[in-house]
Amino acid sequence: MTVPVFPAASLADAHGRRFEYLRLSLTDVCNFRCTYCLPEGYRKIAGMPSDLSVAEIRRLVAGFARLGLWKVRLTGGEPSLRRELLEIAEAVAAVPGIRRLAMTTNGYRLAERAGDYASAGIAALNVSVDSLDPARFRTITGHDRLDEVLDGVGAARAAGIGTVKLNSVLMRGINDDELGGFMAFVNRHDLTLRFIEVMRTNDNAAFFDRHHMPGSEIASRLETLGWRRLQRAAGAGPAIEYEHPAGRGRIGIIAPYAKDFCTTCNRLRVSSRGKLHLCLFGDHGIDLRDLLQSDDQIDALIARITALTATKAPAHRLHSGNSGATPHLASIGG
Ligand code: 5AD
Ligand code: SF4
Repeated sequence: MTVPVFPAASLADAHGRRFEYLRLSLTDVCNFRCTYCLPEGYRKIAGMPSDLSVAEIRRLVAGFARLGLWKVRLTGGEPSLRRELLEIAEAVAAVPGIRRLAMTTNGYRLAERAGDYASAGIAALNVSVDSLDPARFRTITGHDRLDEVLDGVGAARAAGIGTVKLNSVLMRGINDDELGGFMAFVNRHDLTLRFIEVMRTNDNAAFFDRHHMPGSEIASRLETLGWRRLQRAAGAGPAIEYEHPAGRGRIGIIAPYAKDFCTTCNRLRVSSRGKLHLCLFGDHGIDLRDLLQSDDQIDALIARITALTATKAPAHRLHSGNSGATPHLASIGG
């Protein structure tokens, strides 16, 4: 029997960036109504194609794995709303070459499902927690579920999911007064939390103008309070990480408006309907689905992914107010 050999990440663009990490959306649907993302809740758009099937997803991931990509993150929308989630997770985790399967979730029903996620091969989980105050959590997400989500975080760790991180979008005038509370929380629970700078999308321009808080401001507030910036590991993604000498927690900052943010980009995205997005704010995406219909299309799939990736633009154009074609991040998985 010949053992397939997986190349060291060979997927690269013309700017020297290598891509080892795929963010795969399983559905656009979300049950939360986060003010910066889907303030009116998810609305179905008529006439859209169906989400990729389990077999299509398996072929897609096999194609990327042949190019040395080894990490997949399942996103949405809310990926746990996808009925076949566990089946998909198992299929992706079983693709030769895939060494790490992660998921980003809003924490819905996490407490009851964490054990199933772990058994299906999900080894890392990012959970969105934008406030530690129950009433405010409800105002931001439309759901009175803070305690349930935090119970889910505990359950995920207890179930053996080795990496459980929190994501928090920090917004001026909404939750920026909670910085101290978040710091104490991560230190108390030995957790990593990432502050995400709110991003402008096509749908949230007015909200963005009112509440955007630059990552640089978050960074200087952390530094003033004694947090120390860690050395960035080779191949690490775009988060800048901090530690506090007096605590065990870690805080990261994801600041897409920072100078040079795009130079460390290590990821590609595929929408729930099979379109490759080279950048979160790029374009309408390029369809891969016609090449996911049978196992013997894999060479054509690899050729298309390779050719498209080579054309990835050096940086987004958010600074000039250009948010590309992304209506909100639920449409492409954040
Ligand atoms: N800006 C910043 N973060 C966002 N997210 C969703 N929409 C936005 C936005 N416009 C976050 C979610 C989740 C992650 C996947 O992306 O809160 O934590
Ligand atoms: Fe749903 Fe995530 Fe958007 Fe909130 S940010 S509405 S949880 S997709």
